Parts: sequence; structure tokens; C-alpha cells
Amino acid sequence: MRHAGFRIALKLVVRQGQVQEVPTDLVVVNLFEGVKKPAGATGAVDAASGGAIARALAAGDFKGKLKETLVLYPGEGAAKRILLIGLGDPAKTDLDKVRQVSARAAKRARELGVASFATVAHGAGIGGLPAKAVGQALAEGALLGLYRFDRYRGEGTKKKAEEERGRLAEVILVENDRRRLADLQEGVRVGAIIAESTNFTRDIAAVSGPDAHPEAIAKTVAAMAREVGLKCTVLAKKEIEKLGMGGLLGVNQGSAREPRFVVLEHEGSKSGAPFVAVGKGITFDTGGISIKPADKMDEMKSDKSGAAAVFGFLRACALLKIPQRVVGLAPLTDNMPSGSALKPGDVITAMNGKTMEIINTDAEGRLVLADALSYAARYDPAAVVDLATLTGGVVVALGNQTSGIMGNSEELMARLEASATRTRERVFRLPFYEEYDRLVDSKIADVKNSGGRPAHAIQGGKFLERFVDYPWVHVDIAGTAWDDGARPGYNEEYSPGPATGAGVRLLVDLAQNWKPMPKVKKST
Ligand code: BES
Ligand code: MN
Ligand code: ZN
Repeated sequence: MRHAGFRIALKLVVRQGQVQEVPTDLVVVNLFEGVKKPAGATGAVDAASGGAIARALAAGDFKGKLKETLVLYPGEGAAKRILLIGLGDPAKTDLDKVRQVSARAAKRARELGVASFATVAHGAGIGGLPAKAVGQALAEGALLGLYRFDRYRGEGTKKKAEEERGRLAEVILVENDRRRLADLQEGVRVGAIIAESTNFTRDIAAVSGPDAHPEAIAKTVAAMAREVGLKCTVLAKKEIEKLGMGGLLGVNQGSAREPRFVVLEHEGSKSGAPFVAVGKGITFDTGGISIKPADKMDEMKSDKSGAAAVFGFLRACALLKIPQRVVGLAPLTDNMPSGSALKPGDVITAMNGKTMEIINTDAEGRLVLADALSYAARYDPAAVVDLATLTGGVVVALGNQTSGIMGNSEELMARLEASATRTRERVFRLPFYEEYDRLVDSKIADVKNSGGRPAHAIQGGKFLERFVDYPWVHVDIAGTAWDDGARPGYNEEYSPGPATGAGVRLLVDLAQNWKPMPKVKKST
């Protein structure tokens, strides 16, 4: 698979100097809401431009509201154009606002057709945010916000794609204070890795047709692994059979394509129990014999978003040289109806020997994850997080802004919540009381894959819980991984869609802040 989107050819340069002295087609400076007289870098650009900014403020044409923009043509000074961008209420400034402002500014610059622009570390000066974190947020915002998925544009709309992509190739971040320079540079480096890894995930989540067959995806991932220095093992059908992965084989048995099971390993510099990330990799979900309605079925190409997020996460771990050992696991297959397909009423056996009664072949994600979670036990993992577009129920409950989490480890859940706050990849705990256990009890097997209408998202988690014996959290990203453009999207200022890359930044933050898991009781 060719990568059209994820390598946005955007160079991010950090340079010491006075921003008002940089000759440029565009300089981007900011203003907090309510500021009457520009200070700092904005003040310096104002002075160099003969008061163009002050005049706009005096005329009442710019209020400084969050992400408000105004383009000025000063006529004097080093910059041909000035883009003023609002930072909003100074009391509400945080890193996500910086990420959003960076994305908005980069997209506006692209619209203006410039090849390069100079800017400053929004929020690091008067906003008081730490330089390294600001550098990271700036890089993330720009690279995530400029992302385009245009690999399937043919001759007819190629021109449109090129216009959309624009000429923008460089952002020069100018910082006057030498003491902040190294931190900004490091932050930008880290942010660029995380954003490009998220864009890698977005591309994989969005591909369809022959690009999305298990074999094709495994190939793309293996190539990425070679490039960044990850160990990659791709198990083919024979090996999957040998391991007894009855869930993955069961879902695959109606398909014309063989399954794959991808194992990515990041050694890290520390020995000991690894952190394991597991991703649902249904390359297309028709529902199988319990077939889905036609409306929006096309979006089920995104049912591999969990696996895609795991791939992007491991890519980032390698490039960031995360000290902790990290493993990524992804079962890949489509879910197709055919004469050989799995049927409601069938009973299949997962890798760990547990039997699973099929009530609904559209509850397939949990079947392939049962094997992946069983496989994870081999590593005696410190902790496991699975990411899965598992249920429509979580979309009904939480919409498209927040992923649902459930698990058996209070500690791991709390860490994910902290990462969610830092990354603004929002998560929310669903109730996971033992009273729900019975929903997936089967009369004839160890567990059944659907318990009817009540508490769908929780049923999914309860099913998966039967296959773990280590600290574990399940993240249901069914509502957050895909943006159909018709409704408020997931962190939409810097998630242009169609795939959002949900989960990548969340897990990277978790890994960056990794510390040993206390050996404690499981929570319920
Ligand atoms: N892949 C779907 C869940 C999904 C729904 C993802 C909407 C993204 C958007 C999953 O495999 C599924 O079909 N779940 C069913 C389970 C049910 C049959 C028990 C659901 O949630 O309706
Ligand atoms: Mn399904
Ligand atoms: Zn599915």
C-alpha cells in the first residue's frame, strides 16, 4: 500500500530571533480576547508594520475570540501579510487550545496559498504554558490539521486534491528567548512523530477494497516496522490454525481472503513485563449472516480503526524510543456472509479453550479480540489496553466525542483518564458492575457473543473480560474513530477526517508516562 496522506511534506523549523524581522509571505501572531494593546511578539509585529494590528483592534474588527482570524496587509515591515489569530479567554488557555489554534492557523495559511509562514509559540509567553509542551501541541495541531486523505482521487478530481493540499511546505517557529529554544525544538520533534504516526493510522483506517485486505495491511505494517525499527511478525492462516485461534478463524470462514495476525514488538531499554496494545482489525464488517442494513455500511471499512491505532502507536513508540517494552497485537479479517460463513447458533472455541456461542454474527469484534487477548497472556503483560470499534451502543451512549472505557484495573483506568485529559482524547467510564456479567452467560457454552438489547457497550466489555487475567482496559472507539462529516466530529479542528486516528495520542501519552504497575487487586 502506498502512503498518500501521512507524509505531509511540512518542514517545521525552530529558529532563534525576532519574528517581526523575518522576511516572509505570512507571519502568524496571536492575541488573547479583550486585549486592547498588543504586547510581546504581537506588539513587535504591530510596531514593525506601522500599527496595522492596533488599527484593526481600534476599528473593532478583531476581538481575540478563540480561533478568530484576520488577515492584514501592512504595507511596511518584513511580512507581506499578517494573520492574527485569537487565543480566547486567557483564564481558559490550555494545550489543546494551542493545538487547535495551530491547526486553524496552518489551514488558513494553506488557503492563502503561501509556501511558508513564520509564527511564534502561542501560549508559551503571556499564556505561561511550558515551552516543550507548546512545541509538541504546535506540531501536532499543524500536521494533524493539514492531513488529507486523497489517495483515491482520480484524474477527474486530482486538481481539486492538489488545490486542497496547497503549497504550504514550511513553518518557521521563531523564538526570541534562547532559554526556551531547546525545549521548543524537542517538543516540535516529539509532536511531529506523534502526529505523523496518527496520520499513518488514519490512512490505514480509511483504505478500502484491495488496499484493505488483511494481507495488504500486514504488508504495509511490515514495511513501516522495517523503516522505524520494530520487530514485526505476521502470522498467516496456517499459524493461526496451529494456535487454535477459533474466534479469528470463525469470523474469517465466510471470507474469500485469508486472515492475518500481526505482532509488533518494541524492545525499549527496559526489560520486564511489556505493555500490550490490542486492536480490533475487521477490515470490513458486513455483519456476516446477521447482515447489516445497506445504509452507511460503507463506513464499516473503518472497523479496523483499533488495529490501525495500534500500528500508529507502535510506530511512535519506536521513533520516540520509549524506554518501556511495548507489544502491539492485531487480528485482521473481514466479516463476510457466504455459504461457508459462521452462523447464529454455532459454537466456536477461542485460543484459550473457552467456547463461544454465536447469537449474532455481527458481534464479531469480540470474537477476534478473544484470541488476541488470549495471545497477550503469553507476554505476562504488565497491562493490556484494547482499542476497538466494538459497539453501536457506545455511540448511542456517548456520541462521537468520547470513547467508552471499561476494565478490571482501577490503576490502569485512572492512568488512561489522566492521558485523556492531557491529550484531549476524551474517555468516559461505563458501569462495569458484576451484575452485568450474566448478560453474556450462555446456556450451552462458556460465553455468548450477544445478550440482546440492554447495555450493548458493556456487554462487549463483559465478553472480553472473560479472556483476560491481567490488568486490562477496553476502549470502545466506535463513535470516535470515524468522522462522516455530517455531525460534530472528534477533536474536529485537527481531525479533518474521514478517520480521526483516535487512540494513538492517548496510548502514546500513557507509554510516555509509564511506570511499573503495582501488583494489586483488580477493581470491579
Ligand atoms: N463494528 C460494529 C460496531 C460499530 C457500529 C462500529 C457503528 C462503528 C460504528 C460491530 O461489529 C457491531 O456490529 N456491533 C453490534 C453488536 C451487536 C450485533 C451485538 C452493534 O453494536 O450493534
Ligand atoms: Mn459487527
Ligand atoms: Zn465490527
